[in-house]
Amino acid sequence: MERIIMDVDPGIDDSLAIIFALFSPELMIEGLTVVSGNIEVEQATINALKAVEMSGKEVKVYKGEALPLEKNYIDATDTHGEDGIGGNFFTKPNLNYESKHAIDFILSKISTHPNEITILALGPLTNIAKAIQKDPETMRKVKRIVLMGGSALFHGNCSPVAEYNFWVDPHAAKIVFASEIEIMMVGLDVTHHIIFTPHLREIVRQLKTPLSNYIYDITQFYVDFHWKQERTIGCVINDPLAVGVLIDPDLVQTVPAFVDIETDGIAIGQSVVDFYGKRNHGKCNTQVCMQVNPKAFFQLFLHRLFPDFQK
Ligand code: BDR
Ligand code: CA
Repeated sequence: MERIIMDVDPGIDDSLAIIFALFSPELMIEGLTVVSGNIEVEQATINALKAVEMSGKEVKVYKGEALPLEKNYIDATDTHGEDGIGGNFFTKPNLNYESKHAIDFILSKISTHPNEITILALGPLTNIAKAIQKDPETMRKVKRIVLMGGSALFHGNCSPVAEYNFWVDPHAAKIVFASEIEIMMVGLDVTHHIIFTPHLREIVRQLKTPLSNYIYDITQFYVDFHWKQERTIGCVINDPLAVGVLIDPDLVQTVPAFVDIETDGIAIGQSVVDFYGKRNHGKCNTQVCMQVNPKAFFQLFLHRLFPDFQK
């Protein structure tokens, strides 16, 4: 079992990822840390607690940073709805977050379990970068970071070249890639193939459980957004793929590369992926996911969330 800290900004696809992870016995979720991204951190923390409540599992939630390191904060309520989870404005969860700050939780967990903790980062990297700034020695003992963010050969989704999580806090992303912690980048190159189609959504709707209703409801806004934005039918669910990769690494094929992040100008937030060793003397800092098996992913994802959906 792999010990995981999940850093999230729920977010529709983060909410799906949280439930997927909590339903996966291969992963020991040590805690959820929350950061501003899709929605500001107060509401994102409520949304994380809601996802935990919907899962029926127990895991502690820690609120983290409200603002990016340097750049002005820009949320993604255009994509995720006014409340960050599809504009449903669900009743508040009956759970509370912990008083400890997310960064202190991350550092204390890593100190207790040196070289055993994987950070699964599904939002802007502000919490992780600040933990590195606060205590680089402890953060050297992170086992690895698996993150959803960036893009190598695919285009961006916030600018022609930048993916949202890196674009929101490019300075944080730069710190993380410079940290020498082992990184796996699950970027748009692979996640744009993970389309939750109307067919799959209908299967979920037909199950008519509280969890399936919740998933159907939170993804409606995402579906409408994808149609308006790019004429995609269905919605791309990025973050759950990073969970899937932790459970079954064969879902993707990776290529080693040196990755650095642009922090200024027209390409701000771009992940510059050097597959050819032109920079940094051929040294790689990242395994970049370049190919994915979407069918295998959805089989795993739906079976985990709804074990008896195929009778
Ligand atoms: C990423 O940005 C957010 O909107 C999603 O939750 C995902 O983490 C995709 O670019
Ligand atoms: Ca996210």
